[in-house]
Amino acid sequence: MLRQLLRTKSLDALLAEGQAPQHQLKRTLGAFDVVMLGIGAIVGAGIFATIGTAASGDPTRPGAGPALILSFVVTAIACGFAALCYAEFAAMVPISGSAYTYAYATLGELVAWIIGWDLIIEYAVGNVAVAISWGNYFKTLVSGVGIVIPGWLSTDYRTASHIPGLFASAPHLFGVPIVFNILAFGIVALITVVLVIGIRQSATMNSTMVMLKLVVLGFFVVVGWNYTKAGNFHPFAPNGWAGVQAGAAIVFFAYIGFDAVSTVAEETRNPSRDLPIGIVGSLIICTIIYIVVAVVFTGIIPYSVLRQKLATEQAEPLTMALQYANIGRWSNLFVGIVAFGSVVAHTAVLLVFQLGQPRIFFSMARDGLLPPSFAKVHPRFRTPHVTTILTGVAVGVCAMFTSIDEMVDLTNIGTLFAFVLVCIGILILRKRDPDRPRAFRTPWVPVVPMLGVISCLYLMLGLPWITWIRFALWLVVGLVVYYSYGFRRSGLRHAGL
Ligand code: ALA
Repeated sequence: MLRQLLRTKSLDALLAEGQAPQHQLKRTLGAFDVVMLGIGAIVGAGIFATIGTAASGDPTRPGAGPALILSFVVTAIACGFAALCYAEFAAMVPISGSAYTYAYATLGELVAWIIGWDLIIEYAVGNVAVAISWGNYFKTLVSGVGIVIPGWLSTDYRTASHIPGLFASAPHLFGVPIVFNILAFGIVALITVVLVIGIRQSATMNSTMVMLKLVVLGFFVVVGWNYTKAGNFHPFAPNGWAGVQAGAAIVFFAYIGFDAVSTVAEETRNPSRDLPIGIVGSLIICTIIYIVVAVVFTGIIPYSVLRQKLATEQAEPLTMALQYANIGRWSNLFVGIVAFGSVVAHTAVLLVFQLGQPRIFFSMARDGLLPPSFAKVHPRFRTPHVTTILTGVAVGVCAMFTSIDEMVDLTNIGTLFAFVLVCIGILILRKRDPDRPRAFRTPWVPVVPMLGVISCLYLMLGLPWITWIRFALWLVVGLVVYYSYGFRRSGLRHAGL
């Protein structure tokens, strides 16, 4: 049994399978598309929403204050180590399953299953959070033009219970108030349709949205720069290192996504060259953008004001900063532009993660760990339509009924765990298969992967204990599913391995 749990899939077998005609996806993406997909996945709810909590803190954790800039640097370093490891794997095993596939080749079937199951947290649960956040911003945006969406149609049950009068204003069925988030569901449904139709159209749509959100963040920086005050940077770290660390754990959400690039490996024309460019390139570009935005944001609004505002209002941090700057008669227009950018940014993130999750399911099904229908490719569109629709329905329905706070921490712990396993995988494969050609080599092995493991564990330790418990429960459910299905149906088991 142990031998079966530890069975690994040879890299040659993995690569050969990707060539089988019935499993072939359409290769249309170049380096530019891949970098754009990375930025599309990275810049979203993190920079537009969680940046506020990271700077101000909340009742359970201290805020970073202007030292938020340092939090971004700390997290970027941890992500940098992981990105270098992802890049080596992605260039060597350009298969759409990402960390799941890398683990199958190095750490054995059980760990591969665990990581595939864990990636559902990163992709699907992460997208539940982003879809809910999208709904909030969309609501704010349309309210600017006088359209008011009722609370009972745009929130979940738990959040509604904290908002006075909301239950009373909702329609009732047998005495029970009807409350659900139709906005979050709607955007996920729309994106699912785009993704079933085709990857080329999806990439084009993504590139347009990425351009837009970068322009809007640039706009925020240029407009906001004149309103920054040197005095707002003192004290720089009001809660010392504890605030910086808590901020780093929160803004980790803003960096998630560079790894999602690896899921389009089988749709990239030259994956060995373009995937490392996509992974490392998008991370570097986003780090620079984040640091500049953090400087302007914390420079405009004093820490004390930020704390007080975020404790009493539900506000978008960047638009709030512009409102605070009191720009004059253009103020409303400028706020509207940034709110619009925020909606677009969220949409792009949703697109890339809705695109990534089905491709991981697709790889797992191809290995026999999930039902064969999960590996079906649409005869006309050449996209994995079964898993795309399944993911759309699951994420859309969850987003209708859950609250964002519970989802963000869970996403962070799941993603950090995947990063840890990928870094360990590099160490193992360098020992086990040192001569295999590597189009991209992680520098200074074993130091970089080891630092990757340590820094990701450090960020994981910064998350609340309840998140650890939820994560552990999720893994236990995963093990039960594996034992009842994948363990028996695994392609390797049938091959007698
Ligand atoms: N990095 C992505 C975001 O911030 C998940 O929305």
